[in-house]
Amino acid sequence: MEQYVIRGGNPLVGEVEIGGAKNAALAILTAAVMTDEPVLIDNLPDVSDINVLLEAISVIGATVERIDRHTVRINGSTIGSISVDYEFIKKIRASYYLLGALLGKYKKAEVPLPGGCNIGSRPIDQHLKGFRALGAKVDILHGAILASAENLTGNHIFLDMVSVGATINIMMAAAMAKGNTIIENAAREPHVVDVANFLNSMGANIKGAGTDVIRIRGVEALHGTSYSIVPDMIEAGTYMFAAAATKGDVLIKNVIPKHLEAMTAKLEEIGCDVEEFDDAVRVSATKRLGRTHVKTLPYPGFPTDMQPQISVALALANGTSIVTESIFENRFKYADELTRMGACVKVEGNTAIIDGVRGFTGARVSAPDLRAGAALVIAGLAAEGITIVDDIVYIQRGYEDFEGKLKGLGAEIEKVSSEKEIQKYKLQIV
Ligand code: UD1
Repeated sequence: MEQYVIRGGNPLVGEVEIGGAKNAALAILTAAVMTDEPVLIDNLPDVSDINVLLEAISVIGATVERIDRHTVRINGSTIGSISVDYEFIKKIRASYYLLGALLGKYKKAEVPLPGGCNIGSRPIDQHLKGFRALGAKVDILHGAILASAENLTGNHIFLDMVSVGATINIMMAAAMAKGNTIIENAAREPHVVDVANFLNSMGANIKGAGTDVIRIRGVEALHGTSYSIVPDMIEAGTYMFAAAATKGDVLIKNVIPKHLEAMTAKLEEIGCDVEEFDDAVRVSATKRLGRTHVKTLPYPGFPTDMQPQISVALALANGTSIVTESIFENRFKYADELTRMGACVKVEGNTAIIDGVRGFTGARVSAPDLRAGAALVIAGLAAEGITIVDDIVYIQRGYEDFEGKLKGLGAEIEKVSSEKEIQKYKLQIV
């Protein structure tokens, strides 16, 4: 098991380059199997979630050719099975995008039902409701979802709640249905737009992605394409708040500043300077952060995937902040870990009341999930003394070379894999 050992206290200063969006890439890689022609995808993040998904795709028979660290060529013409193994769903929920992709292409798919996860129970009823509306028969048998249809037919679908996954899954199946589909109350996240752009580059006819009404005119076949994944707004946001929490000055490059506006607004509210360029933002903090309240919401609201990172910054702010998590039920698991570092956080239901403290002290903490793990690293960077973050396997699911990029900003952080290495690190820096 690997860990991060961090000696905190250095403000992060310098430049960091953001990679492609993990959440867009997961959907785009599955959509790539919907054509029998080769698809070249570039700006892929090299993170474990992507590598597991690529394995899932190759296990059903698609040809996956890694061109370099960030580029892959996929050919769906060799697919021999429409059944996805439980092993993959267990490791990565987003394998369920293969339901929409395979159902659209072959009118048949079998994917194990994902269970809950570390951030709460995560039903997929809206995905299934959408497939049924397109005329598919959907059953759950022996823990798996079996979806099949003679023909998929476009329909008018109203989502009961804004769901990124349901919007994308239904959009993929509807891209190859007969006739027109309208998805109302659709998610507007940049990665929904990226998946629609990708499908359109394969010959699909999707309009309105980025608004809450998406119109899809089904096509018979999709063709090959080459496509570059949109920059990752959550990776970018994580470095923005890392700069704030460490009172640093960081230029975050290869981003779309428009996608970061909810984060930018909060940073300005708490007293940071944020400068926007064409494809970069610069965040600097020179004084103690101020307090604010935050409620997570679907895009363009403040993202739930940034809730732990902003909470760490607010835990160092002057005054009391209230953070309300409105998307997932169990996303404050890191609060107890942060308390061990000296933060003052009280969680009641879906709300955290944070009384800012002047500083954290390093401690041994454990990453409960991907984003909370990244937030604890930020806390370690801001803390006085040594912090050890266990279970960084969660962080590696979604951040490419996290320690390398942080080191490039002046952080003292090492990835280690034994107690002996931790001791060695501690001795070196005394
Ligand atoms: C995606 C992101 C995740 C992010 C989340 C919210 C990926 C791979 N993951 O997750 O990082 O935190 O969006 O921005 O892109 N819901 C239902 N029924 C459904 C579907 C969703 O009740 O059929 C609920 C969920 O439990 C949750 C809310 O709707 O409370 C939003 O979930 P959703 O947008 O679907 O999240 P994911 O697509 O799973």
